[in-house]
Amino acid sequence: MKQMRLDKYLTETRGMTRSEAKQYLKKGRVTVDGTIEKKPERKIDPENATVLVDGELCRYAQFHYFMLNKPQGVVSATEDFKERTVLDLIKEPVKDLFPVGRLDKDTEGLLLLTNDGVLAHELLSPKKHVEKCYYAVLDGPVGETEQEQFEQGLDIGDEKLTLPAKLEPLSDGKNGVYITVCEGRFHQVKRMAKAVGREVLFLKRMSMGSLQLDPELKTGSYRELTREEVELLKR
Ligand code: URA
Repeated sequence: MKQMRLDKYLTETRGMTRSEAKQYLKKGRVTVDGTIEKKPERKIDPENATVLVDGELCRYAQFHYFMLNKPQGVVSATEDFKERTVLDLIKEPVKDLFPVGRLDKDTEGLLLLTNDGVLAHELLSPKKHVEKCYYAVLDGPVGETEQEQFEQGLDIGDEKLTLPAKLEPLSDGKNGVYITVCEGRFHQVKRMAKAVGREVLFLKRMSMGSLQLDPELKTGSYRELTREEVELLKR
């Protein structure tokens, strides 16, 4: 059975500092399994104890997974001296969250944030070839020639050609396309478009592996992944 100090449990589930947790405990605002507990060093089983703070139930989960519909204008970093980061958008008191990979400042769409380093590593590993699908608006039309170039791999100025990727023109009247890549190179989609003579005017990530951007999620909003979404990602 896993054991954890109560003050640590409060920092993890409520986003408190250790000293705040101690104050809450001292004031008798915390109950464990129905009894007021004042000792920060009290050991509890975080998965099974019922802990209330001011009558509100604490939920313990070792790992958290959030799907963010990233807006333009924020950077995919945990901290930045000048810019707003994707972490500034997450209001949940979860420690050690980080974005899984990066989207450019002007790219929108699906960004996974988690504190599960193992899953993040798996999703980003170049060996795993996890597919990422983007919706892009280009500055002009593309057709079969460009589709073939994407399939064959493009010279985007790196040592190696890109791996085969999919380019799917849409008939949305604004030169929209879906682009699916299974690598994560710097500015990859923009550089691939450039390699076939096009500029990307708008870019939004729609999926990463099995995880699809929830169409109900407004730009700038986020939600926790469902258990099924997490299970599928781990497969
Ligand atoms: N490719 C890009 O060029 N930019 C992104 O943000 C993601 C993929």
